[in-house]
Amino acid sequence: MSLDRCIKIAPSILASDFANFGAECEAIEAQGCDWVHVDVMDGHFVPNITFGPETCKAIRPHIRTVMDVHLMIAPVDQYLKAFAEAGSDILTIHVEAGPHLHRSLQYIRDLGCKAGVALNPSTPAGAIEHVLDLVDLVCVMTVNPGFGGQKFIHSQIGKVAEIREMIGDRDIHIEIDGGITPQTGPLMAAAGADVLVAGSAVFRGGSVANPGPYGENIRAIRAASEAARS
Ligand code: DX5
Ligand code: ZN
Repeated sequence: MSLDRCIKIAPSILASDFANFGAECEAIEAQGCDWVHVDVMDGHFVPNITFGPETCKAIRPHIRTVMDVHLMIAPVDQYLKAFAEAGSDILTIHVEAGPHLHRSLQYIRDLGCKAGVALNPSTPAGAIEHVLDLVDLVCVMTVNPGFGGQKFIHSQIGKVAEIREMIGDRDIHIEIDGGITPQTGPLMAAAGADVLVAGSAVFRGGSVANPGPYGENIRAIRAASEAARS
């Protein structure tokens, strides 16, 4: 098994200064994050709108680690090429966003990106059983997608353990998105997750001018979550 299963912290720039994305990405990377999580919302699949592929393309040169793009949009297929051309490393789409998940995931890999599949809190683990050979990442939503700063949904812990079991020795990351803090991260790390997305819990208390708190927040989530593993 070659996959890096160490805990990776992926700050969501949804909680950053929207007028300053480039500098925010550089600040969180300088403060020790592993990936940068980019939330794309369409006001249709989710009740909020963020930005599209042009913004992803604009921030790409400011990211040296991994640009992890979470597409909360439906329909999704006709936009995948633009997000791939914007330089996404990982493109994650939702199980609930369209009828042809298998085809969409194949297409993401054909475009040269890693393929991720996300599940809303109400979607059972079994929904991805037959696409596991097509994905590099499974994202378990621990809030209903659409907004940052929501409360972590504890019922998803069992789902993560179930997915970890289903994955077996396949090289697939398990990412958790929503309400991650130094208190909730460890619960998911113990259940088998290796990528923790955190918006408000990373950006809280800091800014581009004062990025130190970003680093403290990242280290707090990482330390607590790594400890839960051992
Ligand atoms: C929710 C987004 C998340 C969210 C995480 O729809 O996909 O990435 O911004 O933010 P927090 O950590 O504040 O819940
Ligand atoms: Zn997200």
